Amino acid sequence: MRAAILDGYGAIESLRIGEIEPPKVADRTILVRVCAASVNPADLKVISGKDGGGFLHAKNFPTAIGFDFSGVVEQVGANVQGRAVGDEVFGHLAYSPSSKQGSFAELVAVKPDAVGIKPPGVRHEDAAAAATVGCTALQGLRDRGRLKSGQRVFVNGASGGVGSYAVQIAAALGADVTGSASAAKASFVHSLGVERVIDYRETPLSSLNETFDVFFDAASMSSFGEAKRLLNRGGAYVTLLPSASVFGAMVLSLFSSKRCGFVTVRSRAADLDQLASWVVSGALNTSVEEIFPLSDIHTALSALDSGRVRGKLAVRIEE
Ligand SMILES: NC(=O)c1ccc[n+]([C@@H]2O[C@H](COP(=O)([O-])OP(=O)(O)OC[C@H]3O[C@@H](n4cnc5c(N)ncnc54)[C@H](OP(=O)(O)O)[C@@H]3O)[C@@H](O)[C@H]2O)c1
Repeated sequence: MRAAILDGYGAIESLRIGEIEPPKVADRTILVRVCAASVNPADLKVISGKDGGGFLHAKNFPTAIGFDFSGVVEQVGANVQGRAVGDEVFGHLAYSPSSKQGSFAELVAVKPDAVGIKPPGVRHEDAAAAATVGCTALQGLRDRGRLKSGQRVFVNGASGGVGSYAVQIAAALGADVTGSASAAKASFVHSLGVERVIDYRETPLSSLNETFDVFFDAASMSSFGEAKRLLNRGGAYVTLLPSASVFGAMVLSLFSSKRCGFVTVRSRAADLDQLASWVVSGALNTSVEEIFPLSDIHTALSALDSGRVRGKLAVRIEE
């Protein structure tokens, strides 16, 4: 099958478009013909092998890479129930040091409970863009943060992939949302329905004088120590990048009225279906800024790497 192939850790330019062995369907998996994918910082980490990239994907070069996908079920394993050939589905491949496939490719093999149904009126590019970041935001806010309707949430890094979904999901959950972004992207965050956008360069966390029920660090640039002061009693700090200091803070938070936790995203059918229904109802704008053909994936990854992107970039796999 045609795929973006990584021959070894290196630069974005070292990724080549070529042919690679397709994944095989097993008894409990489905084979999905990928129509669209989207790029994530995790792809940059896998390509470079830095920042934990080796924990996100196997080092069995040459390998296809990429996590998000949306496409059409082409084959179902003998023991699969609830999914059929022709279903339009979306999801993301699991972060795992044993993962040997990628979604910047014509086919992926996945468990049926790891995909949601793509609604007919939603483009594959929008569904693919929503998968990782939407599940991360939903699982981080609802499950780790235990965000409830009427509560106040601060989303640090509201202009990026996870952040642009987090502000909308928090609003859909009934929360009052404040976000931070660079000045150049404030209007994008306002366009997502966020009234209060703070320029994180002009107003660092240390100068904020208000409190929240959940501090969701979509940028994962802060620490529990910095955010604790900004939390109400019973409030939660949620980050996306586990580290020794985060584990230390989690232990300390056991003795505090304020919680500290991190989220590792899982592709779950129920969560993907929830995201899809919000997209259909208009509660969730998929924030796709631009769509690139697979042959131009280097441009998409370089744009993400440059920090210029507002929201998400999608990749069309079918030419
Ligand atoms: N744990 C998990 O399962 C999981 C899942 C998904 C993502 N992640 C990780 O989460 C991180 C964010 O992912 P993403 O897709 O949202 O990335 P992204 O699209 O590149 O967005 C990065 C965001 O960080 C903001 N930012 C940069 N410097 C900042 C600072 N000093 N203070 C506050 N915000 C700052 C950016 O704001 P401006 O552009 O406005 O400067 C932007 O909103 C990545 O490290 C990714 O690997 C983890």
